[in-house]
Amino acid sequence: MGNAFVGALEKKAEAEWLKAVGSLLPDIHEVDRNAVQIWFRFYPLDLLNYLESSDDPEEAMKGISMTGDFGVLDKIDTSHRFLYGHRYWPQVKEVITKRAETMDGVGDLANEIRTLTHLASVKAKTSEPLIMAICAVGLMSLVQVGLDEFRKAPGAIEQPQGLWAKSPDEIVAERAKDDSQGIFGFLKTVDKKFSIHFKAFESEGKFPIINDEEIASASQKDHSRDWQSLDYRCWEGPVPIECTSASCGTCWVGVIGGQEKLTEPSPRERRAMRVFGYNQPEEQKPFIRLACQARANGNVHIVIPPWNAVFGKKVRGNVEDVELEPVTTSAKKLRETIATATSGE
Ligand code: FES
Repeated sequence: MGNAFVGALEKKAEAEWLKAVGSLLPDIHEVDRNAVQIWFRFYPLDLLNYLESSDDPEEAMKGISMTGDFGVLDKIDTSHRFLYGHRYWPQVKEVITKRAETMDGVGDLANEIRTLTHLASVKAKTSEPLIMAICAVGLMSLVQVGLDEFRKAPGAIEQPQGLWAKSPDEIVAERAKDDSQGIFGFLKTVDKKFSIHFKAFESEGKFPIINDEEIASASQKDHSRDWQSLDYRCWEGPVPIECTSASCGTCWVGVIGGQEKLTEPSPRERRAMRVFGYNQPEEQKPFIRLACQARANGNVHIVIPPWNAVFGKKVRGNVEDVELEPVTTSAKKLRETIATATSGE
């Protein structure tokens, strides 16, 4: 028998979740303000529902050119490792499980997240602004996997290391900093060098970037590891890339810190995002970007999603047609897929 609490949550559309999270942002500590919004784009409810309602989910995934590892089910304890609040996951999971077992309905989503936040903050002995984001993520994870699977997850966490072991304010301050350019740095104009810090499902680190260089181009030069052994989409560098021309959607990233140090998205990037379905906010400097388009003029902290697809037309229904012109041979195949997806066939 289904759970009444989860059943009531399942009736809420993705747009309601995004609205609820948006309304809570002023009460979420800055350290997780972008991260929580990024998480909701990496695990979109509409896309999950689309795949689950297909007669043949595998065919449906092919139809939207999906690659990588989509979904929360095998990542209940890990999908949120890029949130500061991840460290409170055991307490948050316990509070959400208990609430699901005892409540038989849900009112306003934002109020429900606030209630969970209060309960979890008491249990974890931390402040509400630090735990609210992971509570929202936990609640949506429950909806996506169901109570049985949610309960079964061990609730294990990674102990914070390095920058993550610092206080939330220190982390925010650290993200705002740029690499030193040396004592004559003020004389430099075009040859300034910065760092892109990245976090992905299986790895984290940083690679250098020259002032005004695209993130994807800088990533391609990082041969420090066999990236493909960590993620088969990473044939060159830690950021998965394919066309390098805003045509395939492979290189999308979330920006958890420093989005103001990236160039503004061009109309082409904005349009491509709608085709891909990534639900990029309309802000001047959004937190979801295409790494092959965004150029950096300072240190930027990104998180790399474990999957990519082209689902704007089929799932969001927000694209009329496409005029994207890929430039590489490998992108030709992807363009054909995009054309099929956007024609609604
Ligand atoms: S690599 Fe294809 S959109 Fe960026």
